[in-house]
Amino acid sequence: MPRARLTVDPDFTIAPVPPRLFGTFVEHMGRGVYTGIYEPGHPKADADGLRTDVLDLVRELGPTVVRYPGGNFVSGYYWEDGVGPKDERPRRLDRAWRTIETNEFGLGEFARWAKAADTEPMMAVNLGTRGVQEACDILEYANHPGGTKFSDLRRAHGNADPFDIKLWCLGNEMDGPWQVGHKTAAEYGRLAAETARAMRLVDPRIELVACGSSKYAMPTFGEWERVVLEETYDQVDYISAHAYYQEHDDLGDFLACARDMDTFIESVVATADAVRARGKHRKRIDISFDEWNVWYQSRHRASAIAKGESEWEVAPRVIEDEYSITDAVVVGTLLNSLLRHGDRVTVACQAQLVNVIGLLRSEPGGPAWKQAIAHPFEQVRRRAAGEILDVRARSDRYETPRFGDVDLVDAAGTWDAETGTVALFLANRDQAEAATVEVGVRGFGELRVQHAAVLAAAEGQDRHTTNDDGHQDRVGLRPLDGVEVADGQATVTLPPLSWAVVQLARP
Ligand code: AHR
Repeated sequence: MPRARLTVDPDFTIAPVPPRLFGTFVEHMGRGVYTGIYEPGHPKADADGLRTDVLDLVRELGPTVVRYPGGNFVSGYYWEDGVGPKDERPRRLDRAWRTIETNEFGLGEFARWAKAADTEPMMAVNLGTRGVQEACDILEYANHPGGTKFSDLRRAHGNADPFDIKLWCLGNEMDGPWQVGHKTAAEYGRLAAETARAMRLVDPRIELVACGSSKYAMPTFGEWERVVLEETYDQVDYISAHAYYQEHDDLGDFLACARDMDTFIESVVATADAVRARGKHRKRIDISFDEWNVWYQSRHRASAIAKGESEWEVAPRVIEDEYSITDAVVVGTLLNSLLRHGDRVTVACQAQLVNVIGLLRSEPGGPAWKQAIAHPFEQVRRRAAGEILDVRARSDRYETPRFGDVDLVDAAGTWDAETGTVALFLANRDQAEAATVEVGVRGFGELRVQHAAVLAAAEGQDRHTTNDDGHQDRVGLRPLDGVEVADGQATVTLPPLSWAVVQLARP
């Protein structure tokens, strides 16, 4: 049986748990908005067409921040089309996803939805086909109290109070040749700096995210961040990172993909800090990891979209991945990577919330349910509290083609001094064997097991098992038996290919 030995101590912490680490993302893409969060006429829709069954699930997940409206979609977006009387809103071609955008849902609806979901809205502005002025206009519409053209327009649209949106992304994935209005680092850096400067004149309280690389493997990675930050350093607060992973031909590699995320984050931090040193800047730039997930890119009609081969439709089914137990374990390790880097990754958005590579699925006129990957997300969101622990881990290892030697047991943890609670998030990457994990917890004084749950294949299931319309709770958490604490050590046995949460508390 593989073994891992972890040591945690309240005196060795990384940073407070960043409240915005548990965000998600709603894009005008496929059925993310239409029949996802919004479906007038659905039996569970409220008077504004918001699906209350989906809202209930979102409140259970508890995302702390939700990015909107894209994604690639934002790079051709006219935000003005999505405000005002619905029957006057134009239909447009969304070139990013080869879709008809009806604009029935826009900024006002999103602000209302975010309030109902009890989450912080995070907006992106279009720096693909538009620029400084339009970014200032939407900010004025959203945040200015009144007495000006766009703030009065918002008021005329029935929203007397400003939306008060703090977090703004300066475009999306502008390094990607697929992006409408794609730019070089120098072109984007200049535009982002000037847009940021002007937006801060409209509302100095905002926080701004410059686009970083859309994946670590981008040929421009590193140089892109350097050039963009040289231009924008004083004007922005964050540089973004995006990453999607999928199983190709080696399961061991897929299970280890959090190593890619670790290296990506550490390389962006190194680059941002080098720009800081060179420019003798005092402030530090943090990372907004505002798109991350498992995404089976090879399976989908996204390639037909890119080739211009699909029909123009309203809210088609696009990249509706159905997530398995394996995917949930991987998502657990990605959450661990984000937590371990919580001193510098202070915003993160799992992509996306509903239907489109979603935590949730919903059917038009039908039910909504949690996908397998929603469970680790919800648990870490709910149980990570206080300070992130600097987990010292010595684990048995296994060989992977892509990442070399990798720990079989992946771990992260937090310590909440207020409640006297240690939360441990553990994954066993071993495909066949259970793993014994011993955790040294001596420094915390007496602890007892408060909660222990595991996500793994149950009897009659295998690693490919998913939730679907007919089996909405087939994959979930079940109690993890046999966790013991004695003499300053907790002992946990993780089933093969599993993700677990163990909470220990002072009596
Ligand atoms: O989340 C799906 C897409 O992935 C987003 O629109 C884009 O930003 C990324 O490439």
